[in-house]
Amino acid sequence: MSGHGPALPMIARPSGPLRGVAEVPGDKSISHRALILGALSIGETRITGLLEGQDVLDTARAMRAFGAEVTQHGPGAWSVHGVGVGGFAEPDGVIDCGNSGTGVRLIMGAMATTDIGATFTGDASLNKRPMGRVTDPLVLFGAQSYGRRGGRLPLTLIGAAQPVPVRYTLPMPSAQVKSAVLLAGLNAPGQTIVIEHEPTRDHTERMLRGFGAEISVEETPEGRVITLTGQPELQAQPVAVPRDPSSAAFPVCAALMVQNSDILVPGVSQNPTRNGIYLTLQDMGADLVMENPRSEGGEPVADLRVRHSTLKGIEVPQDRAASMIDEYPILAALAATAQGTTVMRGIRELRVKESDRIDAMARGLEACGVRVEETEDSLTVHGMAQVPGGATVRTHIDHRIAMSFLCLGLAAEAPIHVDDGSPIATSFPAFEALMAGLGAAITRAND
Ligand code: S3P
Repeated sequence: MSGHGPALPMIARPSGPLRGVAEVPGDKSISHRALILGALSIGETRITGLLEGQDVLDTARAMRAFGAEVTQHGPGAWSVHGVGVGGFAEPDGVIDCGNSGTGVRLIMGAMATTDIGATFTGDASLNKRPMGRVTDPLVLFGAQSYGRRGGRLPLTLIGAAQPVPVRYTLPMPSAQVKSAVLLAGLNAPGQTIVIEHEPTRDHTERMLRGFGAEISVEETPEGRVITLTGQPELQAQPVAVPRDPSSAAFPVCAALMVQNSDILVPGVSQNPTRNGIYLTLQDMGADLVMENPRSEGGEPVADLRVRHSTLKGIEVPQDRAASMIDEYPILAALAATAQGTTVMRGIRELRVKESDRIDAMARGLEACGVRVEETEDSLTVHGMAQVPGGATVRTHIDHRIAMSFLCLGLAAEAPIHVDDGSPIATSFPAFEALMAGLGAAITRAND
């Protein structure tokens, strides 16, 4: 098991207005997929705007270990020379995916129908997370999985020598599981079918189509039926990665919380499977305008103009959960500053993210003087005119918990400390610099 380095305590202090332009990094989900599909293609895939967070760098390293040539040419500019569908070589060493559930689950899918074996591991957070949700369908293709109890990492996967296609209904809303099955289906003959009851992020389907795979999506009474024809020859494509709506949510919510703020966040993906947080913020009364909507790299994008707003608590529509699953931590922090109560239901999946995010947010908010209630699959936050703060919050190796409390600290009465901000580098390495540029007082504890 890899560690995750020394803890990095950080502090957010009450700050003046946030002003300026926040250029958030490339989308994490799309960045992983661009590297993996590039590695499974013939020819050179040129990527611009790649997120250079640790999670994605770990996937780049893994793609090299499976035989692809992955090169960085400049900031965000990368190329991948792929080995083609079914062309993965057996890695010499263990594949360490660090903190990344997306990385490990998609890569397991991508190798599961090739006649090679690989052993996967991660950091203390990733090695606690459930992998059975991915290995269960991969075994149906003919792969074999040998993990720790509960299917946890470290885990060895032996790819199927003679894969068979699979028809699989997702037991939970998960784009990672859907993507793992589709990537495995690439090297199985015939049609692999995935059925999802709730739509989850669709970047894999979009990108597979862009790389020349035959893939159809049909809305039926049973749910979304995604059909992939196996053994295509994927053709390398240029990929322009849009900016990450999940990362954008941090400066956006910080600006909403801090008096007199007015910021612009340009070029953020508005993919309808990802934009639930922005609809929710508008329902809460946010002064949030999507300017200049356009299409970039096959994804709808817009510039987000955000001004400080007095928000009201709401009941977040449950059917929106999948489209904002990573944004509940920052929403819970924001809800603490809203008038009235915010109820978030149908969020059981948060318990198996980088940390148990319902528990991490509930304990952190309580420490900051906020009243919360939780059930197995819900979180209720009672907003208050002034959040007291003045606490140290445990982040549990979870980047989004760290960033959520650092944003809340800007609007609290007393500073909020987080015990470890180092995981922020997995998804948003420039967070500190970007927030400082807007006027936020976020520092390392020993600065
Ligand atoms: C992701 C899917 C989601 C999300 C994660 C990224 C992806 O996870 O939470 O941050 O890129 O497919 P689940 O598939 O577990 O819902």
